[in-house]
Amino acid sequence: MRTNIIVFGGSFDPPHSYHIKLLKAAIKRIRPEKIIIIPTYLSPFKSRHTADYEHRKKMISLMLIKHHINFEINDFEYKKERRVYTYEIARYMAKRYKNSDLYFLMGSDSFKEFERWKRYRDILKYFHIVVGIRKGYPIKRKYNAIILKEKFDNISSTDLRMKMFTTDYSGLDSYVKKYITDNGLYYSDIINRVKNIVTRERFDHILSTVKLAIKLAKQYEVDITKAFLSALLHDSAKDMSIKKQLSLIEKAGIKIKDIEKIKAMAPDIIHQWASAAVAKKIFNIKDTEILSAISKHTTGDKKMSLLDKIIYVSDFASEKRSFKEAVEIREIAFKDIENAFVKTRDYKREFVKKNGGFLYE
Ligand SMILES: [Fe+2]
Ligand SMILES: [Fe+2]
Repeated sequence: MRTNIIVFGGSFDPPHSYHIKLLKAAIKRIRPEKIIIIPTYLSPFKSRHTADYEHRKKMISLMLIKHHINFEINDFEYKKERRVYTYEIARYMAKRYKNSDLYFLMGSDSFKEFERWKRYRDILKYFHIVVGIRKGYPIKRKYNAIILKEKFDNISSTDLRMKMFTTDYSGLDSYVKKYITDNGLYYSDIINRVKNIVTRERFDHILSTVKLAIKLAKQYEVDITKAFLSALLHDSAKDMSIKKQLSLIEKAGIKIKDIEKIKAMAPDIIHQWASAAVAKKIFNIKDTEILSAISKHTTGDKKMSLLDKIIYVSDFASEKRSFKEAVEIREIAFKDIENAFVKTRDYKREFVKKNGGFLYE
């Protein structure tokens, strides 16, 4: 007797509600005897922005078990230690499961590009295609594909990872969320540690700075992880005593021009260097671009990189701030970051002058 098998591949980084809904709809339609999950291989150098294979495997397993789905995980792609083409999976599966009908599950976003897949005719030789329509990706039926009746949201793992940067875990299964935080995945460990060294209000401000910084980083094609880490750590030392801040700065070997004058007249600004010191010494951040953005976020500097500017602006105009200058800068920032930076710097200078403070330049 022939059996039906559903083959479902994905990065599952992390797995989320779309995956489970798609799979459930396919199960209803195909009534498979077996479900085979193939997590994709992701290159290990991709940093902690993504989760390791074993973690992704564990997360998808937890989610499927919770939903009472019987499945097995196939390490075919992982063992190859590279991304494989779907036609390779098709050939391998057809050989291994000779007496089965194989159903390959995908979203309409992938199906739209199907002809561009390498040797897609081979895929059609061995696999029946099952497609779930994702919002924004309508398709015409072809290749005898089975189109599921249900419609699916267009959430993506990439968006979820960005949301997790601001401790927003919506769209994730509770088991998966717990696994992520228990294991400190996707920087949840660093976020938690920062939360413990600042006040609640500060942490709120930090998260809203992160929110704006990653949006701007996306807009201006700056490394999102760097923007995230810079924003997350930018005020990490601000609730420490000045004495503690200065000792951290010294330990990190950071030199500050006019430090005596600053101590006497503007001790508030010390926290920008101290936070860079915290990033370096406590959180082991070695990336000089991140350390630079943190250590310039209050006073700015003659030389400012795009990342420096994004953090400088995001701190001033973070989404929680409601004064009119912040609202204005927030708007400008998405159109012209340079202008947003100059305007922010002018506002800050004006404020310092008006209050008779010490203008550090
Ligand atoms: Fe600050
Ligand atoms: Fe700040």
